[in-house]
Amino acid sequence: MLLHLGMEQKLLSLFDTVADGIAVDGIAVIDDFLSASEVIDITNDDEFSNAMLRFRKAGIGKQQEKQVNEGIRGDYIQWIDPATASAPVQVYLDRISQLRVFLNQSLFLSLKDVEIHRTVYPVGTFYKRHLDQFKKDDHRKITIICYLNPDWKEEDGGQLRVYFGDGAKDFFPLAGRLVCFRSDLLEHEVLPATRERLSVTGWMLDTIIS
Ligand code: OGA
Ligand code: MN
Repeated sequence: MLLHLGMEQKLLSLFDTVADGIAVDGIAVIDDFLSASEVIDITNDDEFSNAMLRFRKAGIGKQQEKQVNEGIRGDYIQWIDPATASAPVQVYLDRISQLRVFLNQSLFLSLKDVEIHRTVYPVGTFYKRHLDQFKKDDHRKITIICYLNPDWKEEDGGQLRVYFGDGAKDFFPLAGRLVCFRSDLLEHEVLPATRERLSVTGWMLDTIIS
């Protein structure tokens, strides 16, 4: 019981840090949002490893999984269906869903749904500077990315570079690290890496999609 209470407190204080960061800077970075073992459970999950096997067989990846304009982005994605997600992925989805409710209460937002995909950047691929909101569809309000790369080193590259009014800041895709930011506000890019780069990437939306 005490232990449970302790865990809840830790999560609440993480959520609080996210809300503060978004309110003040438009961005929050939380290390250890997922534990090392939670990260491994997610990448070992059949759906993730099968998708990666497919992605790695160059040219065999399904068209909808490969991003169309390789000059802009070279990642592969696979949308997660919450109804059929494995238990380890469900752990992440539940935590994000709790975070959504927390942000609604603390920042008076009306985030109604979440969409999340698995993402693989093969070696050397990138995503050029962009904003996550589409011009004709501005339902994406908060971008949420959690990285799944154990033992990532600075020399591996793959930084998320976020542009602010007064310069840019780089964040490495460290396992368990969550980055949340205003989808309408912050331009960003993914730099090429010397290792395959894995994440779950999603958005909190002001509309219901499912
Ligand atoms: C995206 C994106 C950043 C990252 O998928 O829109 O910008 O660090 N991802 O993976
Ligand atoms: Mn983006």
